Amino acid sequence: MTFDFKKYIAAIPDFPEPGIIFRDVTPLMADGEAYAAATKEFVAYTKNRGGIDVVVGPESRGFIVGGPVAYELGIGFVPARKVGKLPRETVRQDYELEYGVINTLEMHADAIKPGQRVLITDDLLATGGTIEATVKLIEQLGGIIVGIAFLIELDDLHGRDKLANYDIFSLMHY
Ligand code: PRP
Ligand code: ADE
Ligand code: MG
Repeated sequence: MTFDFKKYIAAIPDFPEPGIIFRDVTPLMADGEAYAAATKEFVAYTKNRGGIDVVVGPESRGFIVGGPVAYELGIGFVPARKVGKLPRETVRQDYELEYGVINTLEMHADAIKPGQRVLITDDLLATGGTIEATVKLIEQLGGIIVGIAFLIELDDLHGRDKLANYDIFSLMHY
């Protein structure tokens, strides 16, 4: 029997602004069985893609999703952080969110070695802006994106269209 992941996703209308249905993944992470089952699905997907060297996740929720996947695979995790948090030389990329906020993501310039095979993880694909920025940072550093894995994909926002050249795995669709 397949695991009922949707049972652990809360829908909050009009957050953070009118018209947005916010899909809250924190109940899934708060449940040990659901968190482990989701991690297992991501690990299986990664193995099907032929293996990877490193997991990259964008701050903040990408950390909670990607950390356990990297741990299970026995490989490293590299954060793409919101601007101003990383202390050494960085590369930067601006992007826009579903709720219209403009953000900047940064990665340490030496975080990915040229030719490394990368899995990107995040909780949710909306417009695709966050992951498009993450993709650009990784490729600028010479990384090869082997796959991109989400807990949730919001189909109506067509974020997938921005990522047409990449393999995408989504555990749930809304
Ligand atoms: C949220 C979510 C995704 C992103 C998806 O992050 O965690 O990273 O939006 O939207 P997009 O596909 O339109 O880019 P957000 O930066 O709002 O907050 P977080 O720090 O809680 O991850
Ligand atoms: N990030 C962007 N859009 C979102 C949504 N509808 N729910 C949760 N996180 C989001
Ligand atoms: Mg996020």
